[in-house]
Amino acid sequence: MNNVLNCTGHDLKIPNIVDSEGVYLFDENGTQYMDLESGVWCTALGHKNSRVNEVIRSQINSIMHTGFCYSNEILDEAAKSILSITNLQGGKCVFLCSGSEAIEILRQVSRHVTGRDKTLALHDAYLGSYSSVINRNEGWHIFDWQKCKTCPKSIKCDPDCDELQDIPEDIAEFIFEPGSASGFVRFPPIGLIQNMVNIVRKGNGKIIANEVTTGTARTGKWFGYQHYGIEPDMISIGKGIGNGYPVSVAVLNSALVKDLEERPYKYSQSHQNDPLGAAIVREVIHVIDDHNLVAEAAKKGKVFLSQLNMLVDNEIILGVRGRGLMFAVDLVSEEVGDEIFDELVEKGFIVCNRGSLFRIDPPLTISAAEFGKFIDTLNAILTKRKMPHIKQMQSDAAKAAPPI
Ligand SMILES: Cc1ncc(COP(=O)(O)O)c(C=O)c1O
Repeated sequence: MNNVLNCTGHDLKIPNIVDSEGVYLFDENGTQYMDLESGVWCTALGHKNSRVNEVIRSQINSIMHTGFCYSNEILDEAAKSILSITNLQGGKCVFLCSGSEAIEILRQVSRHVTGRDKTLALHDAYLGSYSSVINRNEGWHIFDWQKCKTCPKSIKCDPDCDELQDIPEDIAEFIFEPGSASGFVRFPPIGLIQNMVNIVRKGNGKIIANEVTTGTARTGKWFGYQHYGIEPDMISIGKGIGNGYPVSVAVLNSALVKDLEERPYKYSQSHQNDPLGAAIVREVIHVIDDHNLVAEAAKKGKVFLSQLNMLVDNEIILGVRGRGLMFAVDLVSEEVGDEIFDELVEKGFIVCNRGSLFRIDPPLTISAAEFGKFIDTLNAILTKRKMPHIKQMQSDAAKAAPPI
């Protein structure tokens, strides 16, 4: 890899993957790796999913890309499928290429219709990689909900609390990420989110659910906001909805669609509303539906979380948390995290290494037996670290044993 700039902030451990199947990747030597981060949350149905790949083949043989003045019916069918799994029936969708872009367009729409320029977000929300969301010095009100963790009223959040009262009245939109993805995997309390939504709505601001990671059944519901008893005005969807193909969807409710008819808004990009991406989106939704993967994610998630919980030893693993098939493992230090990560890769398992935290987001299709192999391997690595003398005794015993 001499000619490719690696600026992800992560080390490239396996430079040449040549094949894949389900939860597995295979390198040029035939070594198998279990991909427990689903290619940065994207391959929700596993690698090389046969139904999705068949749709890709069929769609590229008719039309994969269109221009501004011609389209294909598949767009409308895919939009219908998306709307049917949200609270936004009667709304409309725009198909784009990345999660960052879906958030960007919705933020622009919100500012266009409200005429305001202030965004509300939680302090640990990751919204994408565009400079408009990275630079939070101007045009943002960042709500630090860290304090809520120790607040005695956090279950029944007090709407009169000072922190909530500090939220400005002229918020254009609250971009709510229902489960912080950027390494932390934290789920803010329901009462807090309901109060924040009420405050923003009272001031006529909009609610955007950022479902780039929490959507597509990941948390055991179609979307993460559905755990919160709220109804967003807009939803950004990405990653898993393309099963590895770069497609995202920005969804708007019917009131916004009506607003935009009266106050036209323009956004045009070469790969907007492409038939290939739309065909994939529709098939991903059908596969999830046909295999009952939303309920399965909830069910398997509980079992896997309890298995991870059994590894908590307050020595190396300090704690675990999760919702559906989205987990975090807190480790004692970055150094230990890096060492265990390297050992896992060596033994054929890939998790997302965030230093003193592993994020684990397996494909929705992973089996209990496959996850069990990972648990056994991690358990063996932890045991060996805690009791290195046992390993030494075993190898000494092997050396001492007379040849047969
Ligand atoms: C919560 C969240 N939102 C948005 C994005 C941006 O999506 P993309 O990388 O497709 O632009 C990410 C990316 O990791 C994310 O985790």
